[in-house]
Amino acid sequence: MSNSASNTANPSRKILVTSALPYANGAIHLGHLLEYIQTDIWVRFQKSRGHQCHYVCADDAHGTAIMLRAEQEGITSEALIERVSRDHQDDFARFGVGFDNYHSTHSPENRHFSELIYTRLREKGHIATRDIEQMYDPIKGLFLADRFIKGTCPKCKTDDQYGDNCEACGATYTPAELIDPVSAISGATPEVRSSTHYFFKLPDFADFMQGWINDGHVQPQIRNKLLEWFESGFNEWDISRDAPYFGFEIPDAPGKYFYVWLDAPIGYLASFQNLCEREGLDFDSYWQPGSDAEVYHFIGKDIVYFHALFWPAMLHGADFRTPTAVNCHGFVTVNGAKMSKSRGTFIKAATYAEYLNPEYLRYYFAAKLTAGVDDLDLNLEDFAARVNADLVGKVVNIASRCAGFVKKLGGGQLSAHCAQPQLVARFIAAGDAIAEEFEAREFGRAMRRIMELADEANTYIAEAEPWVLAKQEGREQEVLDICSVGINLFRQLMVYLAPVVPQMADDAMAFLQLESLDWESRRDVLLGHAIAKFKPLMTRIERDKIDGMIEASKEDLAEEKKMKETAKGPLADDPIAEEIGFDDFSKVDLRIARIAKAEYVEGADKLLKLTLDLGGETRTVFSGIRKAYAPEALEGHLTVMVANLAPRKMRFGISEGMVLAAGNDDGIYLLEPHSGAEPGQRVT
Ligand code: MSP
Ligand code: ZN
Repeated sequence: MSNSASNTANPSRKILVTSALPYANGAIHLGHLLEYIQTDIWVRFQKSRGHQCHYVCADDAHGTAIMLRAEQEGITSEALIERVSRDHQDDFARFGVGFDNYHSTHSPENRHFSELIYTRLREKGHIATRDIEQMYDPIKGLFLADRFIKGTCPKCKTDDQYGDNCEACGATYTPAELIDPVSAISGATPEVRSSTHYFFKLPDFADFMQGWINDGHVQPQIRNKLLEWFESGFNEWDISRDAPYFGFEIPDAPGKYFYVWLDAPIGYLASFQNLCEREGLDFDSYWQPGSDAEVYHFIGKDIVYFHALFWPAMLHGADFRTPTAVNCHGFVTVNGAKMSKSRGTFIKAATYAEYLNPEYLRYYFAAKLTAGVDDLDLNLEDFAARVNADLVGKVVNIASRCAGFVKKLGGGQLSAHCAQPQLVARFIAAGDAIAEEFEAREFGRAMRRIMELADEANTYIAEAEPWVLAKQEGREQEVLDICSVGINLFRQLMVYLAPVVPQMADDAMAFLQLESLDWESRRDVLLGHAIAKFKPLMTRIERDKIDGMIEASKEDLAEEKKMKETAKGPLADDPIAEEIGFDDFSKVDLRIARIAKAEYVEGADKLLKLTLDLGGETRTVFSGIRKAYAPEALEGHLTVMVANLAPRKMRFGISEGMVLAAGNDDGIYLLEPHSGAEPGQRVT
């Protein structure tokens, strides 16, 4: 895409844009892509308008998760982030996400800015140190974040509870209160150890932040959320982690590292600095206080706290300018639900691209995006219908209906005069309103305006009926005139769609034999202009491609499972149980049970209360299967239960055994015997 400042109406702005930095330990998926596509469309729009716009990003390469993942794969952290960075960049390129620079937080520039910001904050008294007590894994020699500790709930005594809350009874506590806590990484019993931590004194900036939040830098919904946080009061922010840690050591603090979220946003500066060096741009003119440049961060709603509180405070405290705006978007759901691995709707960018044209997704996201933070549903039926109707049925159709006649009757050259100057003028004028929608990130509204124009163009052609006139003697010029208007209208539409579907725009540019589809270029009406042979610019979405993608996504999951099993490493989801003898096994009394009754349990959002019939004996069991089953669907079914499990007292009553189910985060599947089994029968 060209970014020439061709005779633009408004003066050129200096704009720096970022998307959040993806973690360097996983593949890009369709959820991520919403953000990168949203940002990229906005950036391409700004460039089309002739503004000086730079779009930078990087991999977020530091932290414990990446360190452990590398260890599990038996490679260095550096090798892991190198490989993932290449994969990420391949994925982004496939989807037309055109960063001006893609860097890494594990870079010399990022070390420089992290140290600079930290030391400036320290010199001004905004850093504190304090000893804190934390769980420590003596085998791994590692302090454990809450999510790496599991144990028995101190309230209801359910075991295998992670971190600071209980899945069974909903109690919250500190991990130190867990009964028999173990490290989820090594299985060792953690010790409580004390160590010195470094804190960013966020409360020093309370007044500044209050002003900033109310000054139009965030969307109204985000502002309200931030004000709620304000009311509950600020704490100092713990910005250090103890060795071993993959990150940057804190200056003058041997063995202490910057917490990954400290240096991650600084990665925006680092990536931009790296671009400045390569292209001779003036970094300071973008980042010093009072700069006339605009800086925008595009992020998801899960990371607002870091971007709209810590980050502006850090920048301000270290004498950098703060962002013009933090633009937040909602989350992608697929077919109305959270992306799910087992349903095949956790779709990786690479898997999608094997089956479907990335520009379908760019258009669909654009058609559904607003400037708000609502979640966005990718309904696959609607996706196919929308793309087929709009891009193929409306837009491409205009060119394909007209191109043949221009070739046949004009020798590939458009008419020398415009038969519908008013119609064309209206299409050109519409560009102002469409530009306003793009500028305001109301892409859905922009797409609707564009499709209304496409409808108008199609109506014009349908009513003029060039194919009827073409059969009549002596009306060749009329036909050529009509089709030349059609091609001009098509060109206007492609100017407006170019930020959304850049590949299609490139192909249209080749067809129209134009150098540019920049916003202002639409004002030159094409008269006596030669166009190339028409090739279909986009084909319809076929349903079987979507099905193939879903199936392949399920296979991706199976692949991952296999990898985890062979890894047996610290992050293996399902720990491999130790071997037992037959005697151990025979101690477990497994019985067929009939679910006589199933009920919701008030106050427990995970549990169902089951009344089980063991062929004469009745048991009450609380089971964490509520999210998978409606009670009435279970009644009358047979299942398998552990009948000699010691009764457990739970908040809601006593649980006398457990039922067997397979499952993970994505689904729960109760075991059911083949027909013929009788309640009470022993399972051996
Ligand atoms: N590494 C941090 C960001 C650091 S920025 C200084 C991170 N990485 S992430 O890979 O988890 O997410 C990257 C971006 O993708 C985030 O803005 C996040 O909100 C967004 N999304 C991740 N999953 C998403 C959906 N399902 N839907 C929409 N956006 C999603 O957070
Ligand atoms: Zn509990």
